[in-house]
Amino acid sequence: MLSERTYRVAVLGGDGIGPEVTQSALDVVRGAGVDLATTDYELGAARYLRDGFVLDQATLDELRGFDAILLGAIGPAIGDSRIPGGVLERGLLLRLRFGLDLYINYRPFRAVAGSLAQGCEFAIVRENTEGPYAGEGGVLRYGTDHEVATQGSVNTRFGVERCVRYAFERAATLAQPKLTLVHKTNVLTFAGDLWSRVVNEVGAEFSTVEVDYNHVDAACIYLVESPQRYGIIVTDNLFGDILSDLAGAVTGGIGYAASANLNPARTGASLFEPVHGAAHDLVGTGLANPLAAVSSAALMLEHLGEVDAARRITRAVQDFEGDVMTLGTLGVTKQLLERL
Ligand code: IPM
Ligand code: MN
Repeated sequence: MLSERTYRVAVLGGDGIGPEVTQSALDVVRGAGVDLATTDYELGAARYLRDGFVLDQATLDELRGFDAILLGAIGPAIGDSRIPGGVLERGLLLRLRFGLDLYINYRPFRAVAGSLAQGCEFAIVRENTEGPYAGEGGVLRYGTDHEVATQGSVNTRFGVERCVRYAFERAATLAQPKLTLVHKTNVLTFAGDLWSRVVNEVGAEFSTVEVDYNHVDAACIYLVESPQRYGIIVTDNLFGDILSDLAGAVTGGIGYAASANLNPARTGASLFEPVHGAAHDLVGTGLANPLAAVSSAALMLEHLGEVDAARRITRAVQDFEGDVMTLGTLGVTKQLLERL
């Protein structure tokens, strides 16, 4: 069946294996019967090294106007020191997240057979525009013995509330509705208190959702030892970044982890990307694992309202059998297409 409309998608393949896994994702989306009109944007390390361009306001405004943005991976090869840290992270990825108001980073995890968390399914709802990522702070007396560096964590009532509300809405749809706030309220008392109060207040509107709280250090133990306790984890930007790598590791590796950078208010396009990086060492081998990119594309379809196609793709990924390193990118893509 073919979708009723054609979706305009900006494709940011990026660096390393990004373009290959993104192509696989596009093939699977089309194979599921969804019609896409894509526009490629060359952004990332290669582009920056070639002409110094990272991202400008005009491109950002253009991207906002698409139905969705699909991103592969951004970043130079390990050991390539030509790009100072932060140029692409702050200048491109975070500029996209902040500039498009992608205030939710939704990262679902479904443990693969043989992984530490086998049988578990949970998701992290990470606040995506505030916290220590906001860029508050600075340096005084740079390079001297008296240098001072501060990096504040920004937590607004508005930002925390819209994140927590999204997390509760997600949790309410689970077979066993449960939401766990992860923070460090015993030390980060100002921000922790705001997050706790908001969870209590918004939680009062969701009577079916069981609410729990973990300190972030304890959550690191629980994710390894008893991940089945989680449904939705809601947390701030930095804790969410760290926990999602750990969650990826215990559920089968970040080769499987998908993410949706969402603007649920729909004031602009949302962005979908695998959690993994550019893996330059795999370029040209044909062995890049496209499963995380494909799952990210399924999240895109869910956001666009193509829930049936999203479900079929997600099921094909779940049912995938075989060794990625043997089948290669094309072999994996072929099997997924057959399973649709
Ligand atoms: C992620 C990444 C980014 C982050 C980096 C590349 C800026 O680690 O998406 O998790 O810290 O959010
Ligand atoms: Mn990360």
